[in-house]
Amino acid sequence: MKLSKRIQAVQESATIAITSRARQMKDEGIDVVAFGAGEPDFDTPQFIKDAAKAALDAGDTKYTPRSARPLAKAIADKLARENSLNVAPEQVVVTFGGKHALYAAFQALLDEGDGVLIPAPYWVSYPEMVRLAGGRPVILPAGVESGFKITPKQVLDAARGAKILVLNSPSNPTSVTYSPQELADLAQAVLKTDLIVFSDEIYEKLIYGRTKFVSFASLDSRLPDRTITFNGLSKTYSMTGWRLGWAAGPKDAIAAIKRQMSHETTDPVSFAEAGALAAYTDPQAPAFVEKMRAEFERRGQHMAKRLNAIKGVKCVEPTGAFYCFPDVSSHYGRKIGTVEVKSSADFAKAALETARVALVPGDAFGEDKCVRLSFAASMQQIDKGLDRIQQMLA
Ligand SMILES: Cc1ncc(COP(=O)(O)O)c(C=O)c1O
Repeated sequence: MKLSKRIQAVQESATIAITSRARQMKDEGIDVVAFGAGEPDFDTPQFIKDAAKAALDAGDTKYTPRSARPLAKAIADKLARENSLNVAPEQVVVTFGGKHALYAAFQALLDEGDGVLIPAPYWVSYPEMVRLAGGRPVILPAGVESGFKITPKQVLDAARGAKILVLNSPSNPTSVTYSPQELADLAQAVLKTDLIVFSDEIYEKLIYGRTKFVSFASLDSRLPDRTITFNGLSKTYSMTGWRLGWAAGPKDAIAAIKRQMSHETTDPVSFAEAGALAAYTDPQAPAFVEKMRAEFERRGQHMAKRLNAIKGVKCVEPTGAFYCFPDVSSHYGRKIGTVEVKSSADFAKAALETARVALVPGDAFGEDKCVRLSFAASMQQIDKGLDRIQQMLA
């Protein structure tokens, strides 16, 4: 069948591809250590499941006019309480995951050829989503040498002809978090331009050490009119399979996303929303989030320390999210097993074939020197996988 040019230009998500390959190997009985997935290995808390079950039992199984539902208000309350952002419930749209919120927003805002500034390393889906919406990804390099952070000058230099700047702090894949001052400096640069900012804050609660999280839109009173804040339930409450995310921002942009969704998906699953409401309102929620955060902090420190002890591997200690993104490029030029390693894709292939460890090549994120390992895995799995990589690189 002849596919559209639009879809032919789009790559499958590398993270999903590597996870599928690792799962296939496991199904074949091969003992693979999986560091590919971008999801917490915790179960969804019971009080959230109970709320969804109660909604099902109460017959909350129909289309419902979302204006009548309390989740948007709970999200607006959360933004006021935790993020110093004042938005009305109608300025919030609930979507099928944060990914869907971003996709729908690009569709709603981009015209053919509009530029979107994307700092690299970037989450795999941003450039593809931009292309699917007819936009033009403009990559702002922020590789190993820049500590994975863009500067205000880069924003100013690239702003002409661009419509949107994407920010993602804490970041997937680097786990780097901009400090409040760094974000404030970026905000001042943005305010000298006409850029709209998409602030992807999905890892907001997973921050480590002395890292402080601030919402980009809260940094200047002029920002809420030109920022859309994205977030979701997947990472914070370990609800990846529930497919619930949201966007909050200017009324006209959010209304446009809703208009589009009215033809695309309609609103998210009714009883899943009841679970999300519990996540944002139940007094048990903060203790769950803190337990998971503290565990990820312990694992992230451990993984980074072990990676840095491996010959030729350099890893920045994660300050957020749940990934290590080490520079392994000193091993390029070597033969590992049967693989001549010249790139992150070769390195990941060698790791899977020789060490039976699934990790994601950095070129999928725009940084070919690195590979991504998720530490959303047990300590035992982390040690087992790193023992194998250490041995492979010895
Ligand atoms: C940076 C970033 N944004 C958004 C998402 C979307 O997550 P979800 O669609 O599960 O809410 C992810 C998931 O991996 C992510 O890493």
